[in-house]
Amino acid sequence: MPFHFTEENLKKIEEAKKKYPTSLAAVMDACYIGQEQNGYISEEVMEEISRVLDVPKTDVLGVVTFYTMYHQKPMGKYHIQVCTNVSCMLRGGYEIFDTIKSKLGIDNMEVTEDGKFSIEEVECMGACGGAPMIAINNEYFENMTKEKVLEILESLK
Ligand code: FES
Repeated sequence: MPFHFTEENLKKIEEAKKKYPTSLAAVMDACYIGQEQNGYISEEVMEEISRVLDVPKTDVLGVVTFYTMYHQKPMGKYHIQVCTNVSCMLRGGYEIFDTIKSKLGIDNMEVTEDGKFSIEEVECMGACGGAPMIAINNEYFENMTKEKVLEILESLK
């Protein structure tokens, strides 16, 4: 099914283009906006970004496949990112990661059957002072413990 940006999102992309010397530099912004609108970056979203910015689709694909924050398949309504980089790892990041995986019955980059949750192990998200941390969609949760993370999951059910 073809994908088209909403009028509002087209304006956002136009604004993004003004920040950079070339349209190519706005690909990341457009990918972010495309993912927000569509839930993930499908072939059709990449084609539309390529058309709107007038850049080769291979350049869009290069960005989408390089950065882990872009998803090429649908993720859960609540996409949980768990940092296991050094600060978080030393303060129990893997314990948090394992707790969530076992509670939801899914592995890294999988989605629960009801489409509600997905989980992703990520690198440092710049909140090391609050390690261990997770992000659910765009919201950060810091100083996580097994108990806290289970409470959060319960509140989202
Ligand atoms: S190491 Fe986890 S946020 Fe930096």
